Amino acid sequence: MGDDGVIIFDTTLRDGEQAAGINLNMAEKLQIAHQLARLNVDVIEAGFPAASEGDFESVKRIAQEVKGPVIAGLARAKKADIKAAYEAVKYSERPRIHTFIATSDIHMQYKLKMTREEVLEAVKEAVTYAKSLVDDVEFSAEDASRSDLDFLVQVFKVALDCGATTLNIPDTVGYAYPREFGEFVRSIIERVDGGKVAIWSVHCHNDLGLAVANSLAAVEAGARQVECTINGLGERAGNAALEEIVMALKTRKDVFGLDTKIETKRLYETSRLVSRLTGVVVPPNKAIVGANAFAHESGIHQHGVLCNRATYEIMRPEDVGFPGTRLYLGKHSGRHAFKMRLEEMGFYLDDESFEKAFKLFKELCDRKEIVTDGDIEAFIADEIIAVSPSKRFELKSFSVTVENGGRATATVTLLENGVEKTDAAVGNGPVDASYKAIKRIVNVNPILKSYRIDATSERSDALGEAVITLQYDSFTVVGRGTSTDVIEASIKAYVNALNRLFAAASLKGVELS
Ligand code: KIV
Ligand code: ZN
Repeated sequence: MGDDGVIIFDTTLRDGEQAAGINLNMAEKLQIAHQLARLNVDVIEAGFPAASEGDFESVKRIAQEVKGPVIAGLARAKKADIKAAYEAVKYSERPRIHTFIATSDIHMQYKLKMTREEVLEAVKEAVTYAKSLVDDVEFSAEDASRSDLDFLVQVFKVALDCGATTLNIPDTVGYAYPREFGEFVRSIIERVDGGKVAIWSVHCHNDLGLAVANSLAAVEAGARQVECTINGLGERAGNAALEEIVMALKTRKDVFGLDTKIETKRLYETSRLVSRLTGVVVPPNKAIVGANAFAHESGIHQHGVLCNRATYEIMRPEDVGFPGTRLYLGKHSGRHAFKMRLEEMGFYLDDESFEKAFKLFKELCDRKEIVTDGDIEAFIADEIIAVSPSKRFELKSFSVTVENGGRATATVTLLENGVEKTDAAVGNGPVDASYKAIKRIVNVNPILKSYRIDATSERSDALGEAVITLQYDSFTVVGRGTSTDVIEASIKAYVNALNRLFAAASLKGVELS
């Protein structure tokens, strides 16, 4: 990749994971990283190792296990961060340190409280140090799009001289617009990189809905790496969506003349996997991977498509892996069919998890005539992958009674590290009552920030999947639970969130109860 191609740098596990309310456990991050490798991204930014012990460990595991892509770790332009990034990514066959510092006047003055000279010195020290540890060093000028062009050119020249191999121009606050950003990128490239030795990269946020358009304008101007995330996840309004960048380059090759190495047939399954594991729903009208992205509703459109698909379809659904009609699995389906279906959905399980999943699948077949793909996706994500290894709490049993008018009483029994604990509470409906009973058992009182329950298919015997967000002090966690019974799904989601909360707190050395 380079002159004839665009490097796809995926930052779902770093910038995507930074988005409000997303917090993935190690098993989930590994699933996503393996799927990104199957999707054939060039670079996986696996996390920010200096941010927390959890981040460090997950970047390290990904570097140890995931083969193929470059594995990058983010680091501020500080020695300790760079060292932490190195210690985490060094296990990869292709490690990269990605170091950054802000270069806009507003960031330097108010956030960094540094002068231009001090920032230039920090760039020099950071890139030189990173280069002493690995060959592959990326430097980003945070808030580049609002930085003074002459100063930015100076900054990038220093980074290049000190050995940076990729130079990244972020539109950190999503302020740029395409024509202006394209010109900006072109003039930086012309002024810094006379000898064309660096790969130029862009990293665009979507605050004005222009992240993909700005990234593509930058590609036209000479950028050859695009930083993006699955489903456009990321800080605030998110980052440029990987699937949109890739399909725009492929579909409009007449304009760009550039390829990517992405296995586009895996885009849909990757999007589903990330959506399931993060709990962030993909809107039906989302380009490329939304449920309606290839649905033709109006009579005129349907007629046109039946005559010739190209009348209204600029891409073929199969090119992005949109599932056609697949046979439902049921009680006669064996291990092989089940495994194949899991893999079509992007779930590759180790033997132990697969056996557990197959047992759950068979139990489900006893309760439901047909098991849909939505059911499978939900219970694999919620019952197999989401279950954190440090499973402190487990649901043993519950019972609820609801009076006329909705007042409910719930009795819940949990196992806390194997020890049975029961409590009861009265609440406004069965879910509220159950959550109050659980809070009495665990003796912490997190705020329920969001609660959602969805059916996994249109069938009336669909599984119910509950997704909740809990906040406690500085911790925000998502929990998921699945069951044919919506109260049970809700309780499981709460227990799952509590396990994550306790795991997150213990990583930070905080005692919750
Ligand atoms: O948005 C941004 O500027 C970033 C950098 C760290 C690349 O995420
Ligand atoms: Zn960013």
